[in-house]
Amino acid sequence: MMMVLHQALKVTGRSALPLLRFAERWADVIRAPPTPQVKTLEQMPGPSPARFIRDLFMKRGFSRLHQLQLEGRQKYGPMWKASFGPILTVHVAEPELIQQVLRQEGQHPVRSELSSWKDYRALRGEGYGLLTAEGEEWQCVRSLLSKHMLRPQAVEAYDGALNAVVSDLLQKLKLRSQESSSRIVSDISAEFYRFGLEGISSVLFESRIGCLDAVVPVETERFIQSINTMFVMTLLTMAMPQWLHRLLPKPWDTFCRCWDVMFEFAKGHIDQRLQEEKQKLECGEQLEGRYLTYFLSQAGLPLTSVYSNVTELLLAGVDTISSTLSWSLYELSRHPDVQTALRDEVLSVMKDRSVPQASDVAAMPLLKAVVKEILRLYPVIPANARVINKDIEVGGYVIPKNTLITLCHYATSRDPQQFRDPDSFRPQRWGDRSDRSHPYATVPFGVGKRSCIGRRIAELEVYLALSRILMHFTMEPVRENDTVHPMTRTLLVPERQIDLRFTER
Ligand code: HEM
Repeated sequence: MMMVLHQALKVTGRSALPLLRFAERWADVIRAPPTPQVKTLEQMPGPSPARFIRDLFMKRGFSRLHQLQLEGRQKYGPMWKASFGPILTVHVAEPELIQQVLRQEGQHPVRSELSSWKDYRALRGEGYGLLTAEGEEWQCVRSLLSKHMLRPQAVEAYDGALNAVVSDLLQKLKLRSQESSSRIVSDISAEFYRFGLEGISSVLFESRIGCLDAVVPVETERFIQSINTMFVMTLLTMAMPQWLHRLLPKPWDTFCRCWDVMFEFAKGHIDQRLQEEKQKLECGEQLEGRYLTYFLSQAGLPLTSVYSNVTELLLAGVDTISSTLSWSLYELSRHPDVQTALRDEVLSVMKDRSVPQASDVAAMPLLKAVVKEILRLYPVIPANARVINKDIEVGGYVIPKNTLITLCHYATSRDPQQFRDPDSFRPQRWGDRSDRSHPYATVPFGVGKRSCIGRRIAELEVYLALSRILMHFTMEPVRENDTVHPMTRTLLVPERQIDLRFTER
């Protein structure tokens, strides 16, 4: 710029010096940090790349990523930088600072630009769903789905379909507990995966796909297994630079094969459902679709977009529900007093009815507090992310545009500054006025424009399942002091299987 100005002034024949000095001074002002207190990324603390990689690969770091948030905050304070493979990321681990980031996320928030999920879609020529789409494409599907997934009335309309799935879950739990002389249902998460998939399928297709049948279809088990493996491979493939994929092809190949299975599964169900609709139309029948695939297919979206959106919604509805229900029963079995109080609450609302409806939940404050407390202790998404396309100021640092910012939700929701006795399951804290935390201390569904679109469906599904399980069973731990810790598998899941004793009431 200085050169250009110099040339221009030479041409006009005027003395360049005063103007040049003025321009140089301006350039200094622009280059300098906005205020003397504002620091740059260079000044931010954090482990060396070598150390972070050692923590990740040598100390089972991938499954302990949530734990590394606690260690990072203790060592470096509320903000630190670290290199996750080829990616430099700034960690933010204080509610106030998370709020500062999210307030500056812009019109079309971006979770992460460098994503192996997106790489897969580009490689295979698949479309993007709500989880992976950006910009106008994301906005268009988001607006469409919000109408059917976030409006309370639209969501309440799913309670019939979800309750039918809950009935099958109860039947399955009954059968499983009767199979064992001591009424033990081993690996409860396995049942809840199938329940989660059947639940989201009922909302997506308005039909059942047999996940809770006595014999589960092979492709269903393959789909669930593929989700699990894909989540394990997600972090690994992201931490590996592209060139390493050629040298060590297994993680990337496995990751792609999992997505292939998931897309194939979703396409099969969509094609079948749309074919049924076509036949109905040909027979002159009226279409009265009340399911999400129908809404997507009627909105004029390309079929690739319908496929990718349904695949991503199916995926989003499985582990999230399973993990929340598994932890809920795990904690309730270890806290019989809370279990009894919650059952009493449900029974007092239900009186002589046997199937809770969406509208009953409003009268069940303890049920809501239990789920809130579970998601505080075990946030399904322990760390979220944002990439912002302008420089922003957070906690006294300038974060350059397009930096990956990791929001450390696990650390804030277990922060003793925010929650008294943060590692304990105490749902009553949510009714206790003296136990006040920052509104961003626990945000399990995210906040703002890009927050979880499945939130209301997920909450309804969990409330309907939990309340009815409590009406039918008493749950106890199989062994005393049998602690199960969480682990990160992209999502936060139980480290090992949870077995519980189910006694019919
Ligand atoms: C307890 C259950 C669940 C939890 C805790 C949860 C949590 C989250 C979180 C934290 C996000 C990211 C939000 C952000 O970036 O700000 C998210 C996004 C999303 N969730 Fe959920 N989720 C749950 C269940 C579900 C279910 C059942 C569905 C499907 C019906 C679903 C569909 C989605 C989708 C499509 C997105 C991406 C939204 C977008 O980018 O616009 N989630 N979820």
